[in-house]
Amino acid sequence: MVKAFVNGYGSIGSRIASFLQDDPQVDVVGVGKYSPDAGVDRAISLGLDVYVPHERIPKFNGRATGDIKSALDAADIVIDASPGGHGLRNKELYERHDVSVIYQGGESVFGSDAVSNFIFNSRVNYGDALGRRDAVQGSCNVTGLGRIIEPLRERYGDSIKRLDITLIRRWADIEQTSKSLPDTIQFTPNPHHADDARAYLGDDIPIYVRSVKVPTRQMHLHIMDIRFQAEAPPADDIHRLFAAERGVAVLFGATDTKQVRDFADTMKYNFTDTNMVHIHTEMSASRGDMVQMVYSDDQTGIVIPENHMLLQAMMLQKPYEEAVHHTESLFHMEQRKAALESHFSST
Ligand SMILES: NC(=O)c1ccc[n+]([C@@H]2O[C@H](COP(=O)([O-])OP(=O)(O)OC[C@H]3O[C@@H](n4cnc5c(N)ncnc54)[C@H](OP(=O)(O)O)[C@@H]3O)[C@@H](O)[C@H]2O)c1
Repeated sequence: MVKAFVNGYGSIGSRIASFLQDDPQVDVVGVGKYSPDAGVDRAISLGLDVYVPHERIPKFNGRATGDIKSALDAADIVIDASPGGHGLRNKELYERHDVSVIYQGGESVFGSDAVSNFIFNSRVNYGDALGRRDAVQGSCNVTGLGRIIEPLRERYGDSIKRLDITLIRRWADIEQTSKSLPDTIQFTPNPHHADDARAYLGDDIPIYVRSVKVPTRQMHLHIMDIRFQAEAPPADDIHRLFAAERGVAVLFGATDTKQVRDFADTMKYNFTDTNMVHIHTEMSASRGDMVQMVYSDDQTGIVIPENHMLLQAMMLQKPYEEAVHHTESLFHMEQRKAALESHFSST
């Protein structure tokens, strides 16, 4: 039994803790909280023990089981789900407690800010994560990029000349109701996504990423131009390629990202997550040497099964297919893909 502590209980930490509670191979030590807000009661009502910084224990009015250090003593692995950059500050503490760590995509693998030298994407480098003591689970956009680029690379290899991607990023998550959505489009100079994607995909195919942030909570949208060395394949070939891919739904007829989220809500998926990317096929076109495609990326949900795959690689060293099978038993992504593709279909 793997003993896991989830440090941070926001958008990502609350989802990870919830799924790990359903995993008979994992014992959830508890979750780390830093503010004595409603999230504490929510965690306790779901059967989770709450650990807090030692000096803040009195502020939690008897609701804290212990301090963060005691949770780290009890854990084999910590899944750090702190706000971006806080993982780096926590690194020394984790090292002192000699615990394995999964960091999230708000952390870096470059230079003096690096928390690890490894970014994970189960479709690309699962085998390299076996037995590792630390890793960064790529961010939602970086995870989506890998899920799309790796199958393209396997199928078309050297005949792809370059990839140009414009990321349209959501402003806030569904649960962040107190965060307002300003009436503007924000520019993001030097986004981390291309470097992160290259860190695990390599740079055989040049990848260029631009990013802007828009006032919505309803997913990210990636606009991808795939430029080939010669004539590009028909868009239908690309759709057929992804029809066979786990974690990629090939949809027709959704007119906006909220429709996909609303469908997940109708289907009562946990947290209204689909846990995948969704190709919007009517936006695809093959023109000369270029295929243009557009897909939406479930910002919070996509990284949760990935964290689960990574934990299995690091702590249990499971073969890939066995890990996929176990993750599937918790997330039912094959069923979700089939339901999405049947609901948003041209027939
Ligand atoms: N949101 C997404 O869609 C998304 C997707 C992929 C990856 N990520 C990455 O996942 C990470 C977490 O993001 P999030 O959106 O879940 O953030 P979030 O909703 O703001 O939650 C952050 C949580 O971390 C806690 N926290 C505060 N200080 C901490 C510390 N020093 N150590 C550990 N935890 C601390 C906060 O506690 P209190 O609430 O008690 O103050 C809060 O529960 C980031 O690296 C982010 O880039 C986010």
